[in-house]
Amino acid sequence: MSSVDQDVEEILYTEDEIKQRVAEIGAALTEEYAERAARGEEIVLISVLRGAAIFMADLAREIKLPVEMDYMAISSYGSGTKSSGVVRILKDLSSEISGKHVIVAEDILDSGLTLTYLLKNLASREPLSIEVATLLRKNTKAQAKIDCKHVGFECPDRFIVGYGLDYAEKYRNLPYIGVLKPEIYQ
Ligand code: PRP
Ligand code: MN
Ligand code: MG
Repeated sequence: MSSVDQDVEEILYTEDEIKQRVAEIGAALTEEYAERAARGEEIVLISVLRGAAIFMADLAREIKLPVEMDYMAISSYGSGTKSSGVVRILKDLSSEISGKHVIVAEDILDSGLTLTYLLKNLASREPLSIEVATLLRKNTKAQAKIDCKHVGFECPDRFIVGYGLDYAEKYRNLPYIGVLKPEIYQ
């Protein structure tokens, strides 16, 4: 076991389980968007750096249609609290999305503030359509209502890391998703 593995008290989703679920979502998206692609309509996968980068990279390879890949980086305003929901763009998309089908790939839906902001922002750019694929949706009471067409796993409200999810920028490169030992963040 490596030192990062030792910081995890329980594995929730193994590398194989994640791979399987991502393949299923990719297959569903391939079917769902095939006709639009056949009509020559453009599809763009978008993720918010940094957590979703790994999920999006794997998902993109399971979508058997031509897709663009683009990225945004955002940051909450003020003293680092997310509760205001006020966000600023650190890095915008590289390309226009108007007239394209947008698939937002997120690693996790927690409070929903990130996706609430993002969906509103992207919708204002007049894409042809927009939908969300999130690998994880946390089971929390205070979650903004977000319409997620594809959800990989409904996960418990625990302190989880891996497969893109960090604690203080660590653990993103774990190939599985697990629960961090409390002594690490206490
Ligand atoms: C995490 C995660 C989601 C967001 C979900 O990102 O990657 O993007 O929080 O939380 P929410 O639903 O409460 O908004 P974070 O802001 O930690 O940045 P990161 O992706 O760089 O880790
Ligand atoms: Mn994120
Ligand atoms: Mg984070």
